[in-house]
Parts: sequence; C-alpha cells; structure tokens
Amino acid sequence: MEFRHLGRSGLLVSEISYGNWITHGSQVEEEAATACVRAALDTGITTFDTADVYAGTKAEEVLGRALKGERREGLEIFTKVYWPTGPGRNDRGLSRKHIMESINGSLRRLQTDYVDLYQAHRYDYSTPLEETMEAFADIVHSGKAHYIGVSEWKASQIRQAHALARELRIPLVSNQPQYSMLWRVIEAEVIPTSEELGVGQIVWSPMAQGVLSGKYLPGQPPPAGSRATDEKSGAGFIASWLSDDVLTRVQRLKPLAEQAGLTMPQLAVAWVLQNPNVSSAIVGASRPEQVHDNVKAAGVKLDADLLKAIDEIVEPVTERDPGKTESPAQRP
Ligand SMILES: NC(=O)c1ccc[n+]([C@@H]2O[C@H](COP(=O)([O-])OP(=O)(O)OC[C@H]3O[C@@H](n4cnc5c(N)ncnc54)[C@H](OP(=O)(O)O)[C@@H]3O)[C@@H](O)[C@H]2O)c1
Repeated sequence: MEFRHLGRSGLLVSEISYGNWITHGSQVEEEAATACVRAALDTGITTFDTADVYAGTKAEEVLGRALKGERREGLEIFTKVYWPTGPGRNDRGLSRKHIMESINGSLRRLQTDYVDLYQAHRYDYSTPLEETMEAFADIVHSGKAHYIGVSEWKASQIRQAHALARELRIPLVSNQPQYSMLWRVIEAEVIPTSEELGVGQIVWSPMAQGVLSGKYLPGQPPPAGSRATDEKSGAGFIASWLSDDVLTRVQRLKPLAEQAGLTMPQLAVAWVLQNPNVSSAIVGASRPEQVHDNVKAAGVKLDADLLKAIDEIVEPVTERDPGKTESPAQRP
C-alpha cells in the first residue's frame, strides 16, 4: 500500500480506502462484510469510509464490529452527516441539533471515541453555513473528530467553508466527490480550487460502481450477485451506467488494461490516482477477492499514451459538466 497526505494536512491515508455503502448491513451478510474488512486490513488499507445513513445506520454498526480489537491509532475512520437517519424533520441536514446528535450516534455504532474525519455528506441550503461550521468546530474542539471534510460541494461552497474553518481554527481538509473515467465533473472547478486551498479529494465510485470492472456486458443480463441484481438498493443506483453505449466502450478498454499488465478494476482505480489532488480512492467490495484485486492499483503509474487512448474511447460517454455537482435544493 502507498499513503498520501489528506489534502495539505499532516494526516496520512491509504491511497486506496475501503467504503461500505450498499454492501454492509444490506447487500451482503455480515460474514462477507467482515471478510472484506479483514482483506482490506491484510492488504494494507488503513482508511475506512462509512456514513450514518448507510443501510439505515446499520453499516456503521457492521464496520464498528469488524474493526473491533484493531489498534485505533493504526486506522483512519471516516463518517458523514446530512442524509436522513430517522423519521423526524430534524433527523437530517446540517443544523447544529442534527450534527450534535448524529456524531454521538455514529461514535456509538462505530464503537470509537472519535472519528478521524467527519464529513458533511451534502451542502444544506436550509442551514446557515456559519451554524454548520460552528457545530463542526465544537466537535473538533471536543475531540470527537480530528478533521472536517465535505462531500459533493461546489468549488464556491468549499471556498466559503474553508474561510470559516480558518476563522474557527479547525482543519477543513477534504472533499468527497464522485470521480472516475466516466464522471469527471470535478476537474474544471472543484480540483483547481481545492489545490489552491490545500483540500484533498477522497473519491467515490472510482469503478463506476463496478461498471469499469468490465463484468457488465452490453445486451446481456448482469452477472449473478452483482450490484445490478441487488434489488434492495444497488440496482437503482447503478442503473444509469448500464447503457449499451457505455458498456460497449468499457469493453474496448480491456486490451489497454491487458497491455498495461493490469486487470480492469486495477486500471479504473489507478486512473483516479493519477490525479495528484486525489488523496484516496474509496473502493467498495462485496467479496474479499475484489479487495485483493483492487489494492494492486496502489502505486501504479499510467503513461501518457495509455491515458490518451482511454480518453479517446470513453470521451463520448464521459460527464464533465461542473454543474452536475449538486446538493438537494431542499433537505431530503
Ligand atoms: N459521498 C458520497 O456521496 C458517496 C456516494 C457513494 C459512495 N461513496 C463512498 O464510496 C465508496 C465506494 O463506492 P462504490 O461502492 O460505488 O465504489 P466502486 O469501487 O466504484 O464500486 C464497488 C462495487 O464494484 C464491484 N467491484 C468491486 N471490485 C470489483 C472487482 N475487482 N471485480 C468486479 N467487481 C468489483 C462490487 O460490487 P458487486 O460485487 O456487488 O457487483 C463493489 O461493491 C462507498 O462505499 C462509500 O464509502 C460516497
């Protein structure tokens, strides 16, 4: 495993981190979830990403149990707040009330006294940014989180929050956006602003939820046990990637991966890590073999000709519009 600084902070994170959205507490049984966490630890992953909302709060519980007994100082545990965790009108968003309640719930479920990074899972247009940042400051100053991050925030929102964080003397060090060969909306605005401010990207769905592994074939039903067959939640989230045009182009990447001596999942994960503003690529996995495959992307350098050949194949189906970085206009 290779390690990178999280933005301009002193915190080192594993280049590849493990995230448990959709899988833990939902798609896979606890035994498989624990085996994936074990595989992550065995292969040198030290950084784990979850959220209060995943699997209706069950994902944090599963991760907490799977990491129990590990040396806490050897791990970086990240969680998030914003999406609904209960039926009440205050069980969501970035109000002081919900942030304070949610961090306590997350720490209890994760069985830890602090998280390394606490992230605003979206921007909340119904709460003054000052209120949110002051609540984060109290959380950092009370030792419940070491660093603060955001997720899917626009460049202008990151800039405003960063300025407030400086005033409040808390470290806002990261943004967590979607980023892959097929989804490059952060390149135009979020990355230049983040580079200037010393904010690092912890990128999600680097494999476009499994699509860039090449296992979904155009015109064919999805493979058994894959996310596209998970009717509980996965199928709905991956659906937009499963067009014949995307899948045909992904198949055309296979010879490029072979030439580079990589598997398709490794090529997809290595691709996002070529960007120096990316601090870590969060991969998901429903089985331990996938973790073993994916981690081999750490430290891989892709040459300019290969990157150009990839661009030529995927460009027509790649999203680049910075306007696609969005948070709900109203709290969900
Ligand atoms: N901040 C946000 O709003 C946000 C949103 C989404 C995700 N995230 C974070 O990002 C993490 C990763 O997202 P993701 O799970 O969509 O990432 P991903 O790495 O793009 O997709 C992971 C899925 O692809 C399949 N896969 C993984 N490795 C494979 C391999 N070697 N061969 C074949 N298939 C493979 C697995 O699904 P199957 O085996 O089921 O097909 C796995 O669950 C999440 O857990 C979460 O921590 C954050």
